[in-house]
Amino acid sequence: MAKTTAKNIIIDTDPGQDDAVAILLALGSPQELSILGITTVAGNVPLELTTRNARMVCELAGRPDVAIYAGCDRPLAHSLVTAEHVHGKTGLDGPTLPEPTMPVQDKHAVDYIIETLRAEPPGTVTLCPLGPLTNIATALQRAPDIADRIEEIVLMGGAYFEVGNITPAAEFNIYVDPEAAEIVFKCGAPITVMPLDVTHKALVTKPRNDAFRALDTPVGIATAQMTDFFERFDKEKYGSAGAPLHDPCVTAYLINPDLFSGRHINVEIETQSKLTRGMTVADWWNVTDRAPNATFMGDVDSDGFFALITERLARL
Ligand code: RIB
Ligand code: CA
Repeated sequence: MAKTTAKNIIIDTDPGQDDAVAILLALGSPQELSILGITTVAGNVPLELTTRNARMVCELAGRPDVAIYAGCDRPLAHSLVTAEHVHGKTGLDGPTLPEPTMPVQDKHAVDYIIETLRAEPPGTVTLCPLGPLTNIATALQRAPDIADRIEEIVLMGGAYFEVGNITPAAEFNIYVDPEAAEIVFKCGAPITVMPLDVTHKALVTKPRNDAFRALDTPVGIATAQMTDFFERFDKEKYGSAGAPLHDPCVTAYLINPDLFSGRHINVEIETQSKLTRGMTVADWWNVTDRAPNATFMGDVDSDGFFALITERLARL
């Protein structure tokens, strides 16, 4: 089979156990995805911890060579809201992983994003935001010319039918920095959104968690321990059979888009209202004349999704 050229991606992330699985899935898929760099942002936990966690995940995968760039430590206009109640004090509770030794690059994540998009041929770099959109929005504000050079932005965030998880109206990533989300959704680059509508159909049930553990490798066991810890909160809250594995929907989509289905619609962000700040107002039923600006996913083949993750983690 002819070697397909892997897609160049930058993963922008706030690890977070689900971010960790998304990164491991990408690292286990070098034929499809080439990680140019990982940029960290404050979100689930403060920046210092999301950066530490990104390093720990790369070392867990045996990839201390990955270039990691620390980014923004707070949202554009609000104080930081974190989610230790979901992810634990460290943001990566569950497994006991060694303190990382791999370096963090000196360059700021925003400068790295701008310089990489300007250096690479237009339309050859995909951005994969898995947390609040602060880094991406700051790069777009500082260098508006990069918008036309982005191949695609595939992000985890938002919700329509599922409504909110951090407030009744808003999903966490968008809620933390709605002003950043507004900038990103208006930037004109092709956008694919993995909202709670789809991630809540990707539940880590016990058989699926057992399959991670049955890999019987450091990566498989750590992934099982991460998703074990991570799921206790959502299972209690939703009374569901497992926790939604949000962020790996982004990297799984880039490996096998046929796992997902959705609609190309208009999505706008509420930034003014205290009550509904961060709501993704998705015109799923096309009731406005607002121009479509995002492919908003609504369904996933969850068995295929977990089979892909398990098969790729086995390679690490
Ligand atoms: O709402 C879920 C999102 O918020 C995920 O990206 C999770 O990691 C947290 O960042
Ligand atoms: Ca995340």
